[in-house]
Amino acid sequence: MQTEHLKCLSALAEHRTLARAAQALAVDVAALHEAVAAAQACYGGGLVETASAMDEILFTARGQAVLAIARQSQGELDGLHRDLAVFRQNKAVAPLVDRRSVSPRRLGLPGPDAETLPLMLAAALRAPDHGRLRPWRVIEFPRESREMLAVLFEQEKLRRDPLTSPQDLARARAHALRPPVLLGFVVSPVMRSPVPVQEQWLCAGAALGNVLNAAHQLDFGAIVLSGDRCFDPILSAQLGVSGDETLAGFVSIGTVVGQPAAACAVSPASAMSRWTGLAPAAASPEEQGDCAACRGLGIACRHRCRV
Ligand SMILES: Cc1cc2nc3c(=O)[nH]c(=O)nc-3n(C[C@H](O)[C@H](O)[C@H](O)COP(=O)(O)O)c2cc1C
Repeated sequence: MQTEHLKCLSALAEHRTLARAAQALAVDVAALHEAVAAAQACYGGGLVETASAMDEILFTARGQAVLAIARQSQGELDGLHRDLAVFRQNKAVAPLVDRRSVSPRRLGLPGPDAETLPLMLAAALRAPDHGRLRPWRVIEFPRESREMLAVLFEQEKLRRDPLTSPQDLARARAHALRPPVLLGFVVSPVMRSPVPVQEQWLCAGAALGNVLNAAHQLDFGAIVLSGDRCFDPILSAQLGVSGDETLAGFVSIGTVVGQPAAACAVSPASAMSRWTGLAPAAASPEEQGDCAACRGLGIACRHRCRV
């Protein structure tokens, strides 16, 4: 259920008319009307009706059911926001829970300099790494290589779609040209190692996460984007990525010049379950006294019948 729907439906139920609900939400009536229409389209239509007298809004049976779910979700969401506010006050985890990906169009100069970039790699190198294999590497694309990279991105786009639009080609070029600092992140597993390849991928993912977290803590914005181009074998080969390796994505890093949208709040509980021991084994038919051999009497039966 979308947060916007929750807010609109709850405000309508509380304030009873579009005008009063719009005022409470500090939006204009037309915007609220549109939001209600969107909610109705989303939940199968017919959530509210307007009673003729005084524009009062009435909820249909379907509307009341949706409203009940909305109120419950709103309660859970409010609790979650309270929890997140507490996490943010915790100095140790605040930088981690506050990290956001920042799209390249919201990144400007300056990017991290020659002293700062190695700090991000140092953080990546402290990711847990079974066997110390360092199954990843980073390719830096310095400014002077970017025009050539932009041409390769254009060519890749045209290989995928020969009729691609000039706007899409411009977007592909921009991804190569715009970020102040651009890195290719390559997963480079050691093939003949007792450490399973999936563990090496986990190490690489943890290293990539550390790059993004370090960038955030150093006051830069960063994002990793793969897109279809990372799956193009010709581009990978042109960038020096070998057959056993995977070009996992391009990391753009720079100064945040436009704030990204607020992060979706997700409950930590949704990522966790609790194991409390093995469930008691289901009793066998013999133990239940349903033994086909002795009919549950247990006399001279090779099964241990519980009679
Ligand atoms: C390896 C990797 C590749 C990604 N590629 C893309 C991509 O091509 N397009 C995209 O929209 N998001 C991509 N993402 C997701 C974004 O980087 C980002 O994590 C997502 O937008 C969520 O934002 P958040 O990090 O602020 O939660 C990728 C993430 C990873 C880890």
